[in-house]
Amino acid sequence: MSFLDPSTAPERQAQAGIDRDWWRGAVIYQIYPRSFQDSNSDGVGDLAGIIHRLPHVASLGVDAIWISPFFRSPMLDYGYDVSDYRDVDPLFGTLGDFDALIQRAHELGLKVLIDLVLSHTSSEHPWFRESRSSRQNPKADWYVWADARPDGTPPNNWLSIFGGSAWQWDGERMQYYMHNFLAEQPDLNFHNADVQEELLDIARFWLDRGVDGFRLDTVNFYFHDNELRDNPPLDPAHRNDNTAPSVNPYNFQDHLHDKSQPENIDFLRRLRAVMDEYPAATSVGEVGESQRGTQVQAAYTAGDDLLHMCYDFDFLSNTYPKGTQVAAVLTRYQQIVTEGWACWAYSNHDVVRHATRWNLSEEARRTYAALLMAIQGSVCLYQGEELGLTEAYVAYEDLQDPYGKRFWPKFKGRDGARTPMPWVADQQNGGFSDERPWLPVAMEHLERAVSVQDREAGSTLAFYRQMIAFRKAHRVLQKGDMRVVEAEDGYLSLIREHEGVRLLCAFNLSNGARPVDFPPGEWRIDRGAPFKCKTDDRGTVLPPWQACFALAESG
Ligand code: BGC
Repeated sequence: MSFLDPSTAPERQAQAGIDRDWWRGAVIYQIYPRSFQDSNSDGVGDLAGIIHRLPHVASLGVDAIWISPFFRSPMLDYGYDVSDYRDVDPLFGTLGDFDALIQRAHELGLKVLIDLVLSHTSSEHPWFRESRSSRQNPKADWYVWADARPDGTPPNNWLSIFGGSAWQWDGERMQYYMHNFLAEQPDLNFHNADVQEELLDIARFWLDRGVDGFRLDTVNFYFHDNELRDNPPLDPAHRNDNTAPSVNPYNFQDHLHDKSQPENIDFLRRLRAVMDEYPAATSVGEVGESQRGTQVQAAYTAGDDLLHMCYDFDFLSNTYPKGTQVAAVLTRYQQIVTEGWACWAYSNHDVVRHATRWNLSEEARRTYAALLMAIQGSVCLYQGEELGLTEAYVAYEDLQDPYGKRFWPKFKGRDGARTPMPWVADQQNGGFSDERPWLPVAMEHLERAVSVQDREAGSTLAFYRQMIAFRKAHRVLQKGDMRVVEAEDGYLSLIREHEGVRLLCAFNLSNGARPVDFPPGEWRIDRGAPFKCKTDDRGTVLPPWQACFALAESG
């Protein structure tokens, strides 16, 4: 049952003081449950472990958590292969634990987003078992089935992100089924109305349990071209590794027909209508699309009846974010996504941690973190980012990720970003678990453990707390418009503006000193940010890797 009558919801919420817009400018902390905190000594993190560590998350000053999947799953893609959407996997706990988690998070002022993986299920989901059993059963059309070509080969040239054809032969039905990821992750057929109904009902199930929104996994993969047309080859000059590593031939195609289909808009509108029945639910759609990602984001976030935000991949790529590059991404985004709201991230459970990916010094990590807090949009931080963690080395023998096993050694997979959180430096496994963890704790992470950084006033952790507090204290940083003022490879300045407040944000992204160029007018430096800049009669100078925030004195 929904909380509110949709026809009167906005008025009643305004009266009740509910901020439907809380997500705009929010900082969201991503928790990868397997690696956050183990509470029952099986070497795998769980919901009770998350509850135990929530005070740490709250201490950062973030607004919300996004928890990667904890649903029942055979765990071949570590939870992104769901076999029961309405239950918690016993490895992670129970529905009761989840209710307790929501309650505790809310007590601490944290909203809770869960990761809905609607595009595909596990091949062990009862729907798929039924679907594959014959061509006539009630769920026969719930997945994407197609006959072989006369020569027995797959129906078309579509590829799986995890390598090889997107088609898997099934001897029971004597047909191929489609999968964008592992063969054990069959793709649901969104062209089927019953599939849509069922998935909307799953969204309701979790909203009724009190979640505040969803991260929507692979949101642009929901529909495929019903005619199953081949994707054309992509001009090699346009290949990029935004959504798949460069060793993956997935990048050789222009994905015109296997994803980002126009029918998705109507489904997203239906999903939004469900969310709007609840006080202040939000959504972040993950758009994995190397060629037209920004255009797809624009389409999915236009108006106020589709997605609230899309998750942008530009800063998850290998491209080093020089000032000019950041400015190009932001300007392009503003030109294309004219109505939507971005959600930016540097790191997550799928990419090499950005400290390593961009080879950032300690100081550079902080300056880039401040930049993330200053650009227009919401922000996702990935667990351990607040500690400045680097990518962990995981030996082949310890490797878990099927994606890494497939493309080793050129692409080592995602395990290096998924090793356990280091909580207490001098405890076994960094305080994560008293049993052998599913992935080893990186020794070099221990000196950055929360216990160590909590004691140091100048630590990276302390820096994140200060910088998030600074963002919170300046509504203009959360809600304001943005304009790029100056961009060089080693320098970037922006102006944020909201309700008459103008804030200049200048970043020295280089190893040399750089004067701040103030736009015309009177500017007063805000010393609340954890940075140093020197002002004398010749002007204001930023030492290497420092930032400066200044408020316009009038108008
Ligand atoms: C998730 C991955 C997952 C894939 C398939 C993604 O984008 O973030 O971790 O393997 O979807 O569900």
